[in-house]
Amino acid sequence: MNEIKTAIKTEGLTKKFGDLVAVDNVDLEIKAGELFGLLGPNGAGKTTIIKMLSTLLRPTSGKGYVCEYDVSKDQNAVRRSIGIVFQDPSVDSKLTGKENLDFHARMYHLNKELRVKRVKEVLKLVELEDKAKILLENYSGGMQRRLEIARGLMHYPNVLFLDEPTLGLDAQTRRHIWDYIKKLNEKEDVTIVLTTHYMEEADYLCDRVAIIDQGRIVALDTPENLKNMIGADVISLKIPEGMDRLIEVLKGFDWVKKVTEHDGFLDICVKEGETKIPDIVISAQREGISIKSVSLHEPTLEDVFLQFTGRTIREEEGSAKKVMKRLMMGSRR
Ligand SMILES: Nc1ncnc2c1ncn2[C@@H]1O[C@H](COP(=O)(O)OP(=O)(O)OP(=O)(O)O)[C@@H](O)[C@H]1O
Ligand SMILES: [Mg+2]
Repeated sequence: MNEIKTAIKTEGLTKKFGDLVAVDNVDLEIKAGELFGLLGPNGAGKTTIIKMLSTLLRPTSGKGYVCEYDVSKDQNAVRRSIGIVFQDPSVDSKLTGKENLDFHARMYHLNKELRVKRVKEVLKLVELEDKAKILLENYSGGMQRRLEIARGLMHYPNVLFLDEPTLGLDAQTRRHIWDYIKKLNEKEDVTIVLTTHYMEEADYLCDRVAIIDQGRIVALDTPENLKNMIGADVISLKIPEGMDRLIEVLKGFDWVKKVTEHDGFLDICVKEGETKIPDIVISAQREGISIKSVSLHEPTLEDVFLQFTGRTIREEEGSAKKVMKRLMMGSRR
């Protein structure tokens, strides 16, 4: 792995399902050892990209390379190089943690000695040693996810794909999983490509993030640089009426960098936001426009997404939660 500098490369990677262009001309280059995030709302094309890179789906056009192997030509070599944790739970609930891991390792033809050693190693990595002999159906949601991540690592892959590793988990469990992901990126020297629609996750974990919307990469950089693109604080106003009039007034101030309207809110990008709130409130009052709430925050990746697409990722979260609930109900049956 050391000699490979580029873990993933795509050139014009495209997937169409009938008339729908799910992945649209994606160019990516991910360095070996990177922790890289694909951030985007439901249906953005994240899973489809992962599926093409892991040889589960054939690209309609364009090229994809994993560890310099062509995903359309060297499929076996690609499969040997990767580990994958699917968006939907895929562990066998009637096997113990250890059995799940051992089964996976057998499929990769690891010999017995190596299997025993590796099972111990990966269980330690995700701190599940004491749960090794318990059936998966008796693991908590977070533990199951950790075991799936461990399983993805069993055969020493160079690249690990994590498709929505923390979808539907509570905030505390999510943070734990983030720590494991960071740890294994460092300790196992594995390149990690994860998808998420949680901007905090992409921000906290990833060295670089590609923001994806409707199959296209709309921005790609370090979380820091992406947020710096906003170049200001964000003042968010809730306004039931008179939005257009206030936008006109605000555009008249030379210190207002950008004004964006979304779901009854007005986001105003300004430097030193806290000093500008009084001016904004007074201007609104003069126009007879009532402001229901005011908040000020430093830019987040959500603001970056809004700037590039005119929509928020958050709008989509409700529906993602519903999907997760449905999945969880399914796995309990
Ligand atoms: N096998 C398929 N047949 C038809 N359409 C598909 C198929 N797989 C995906 N799509 C469509 O392609 C688009 C991208 O889907 P994809 O699953 O890649 O999105 P995603 O970014 O992973 O979304 P989510 O955050 O909900 O997981 C969606 O519009 C989806 O309905
Ligand atoms: Mg997906």
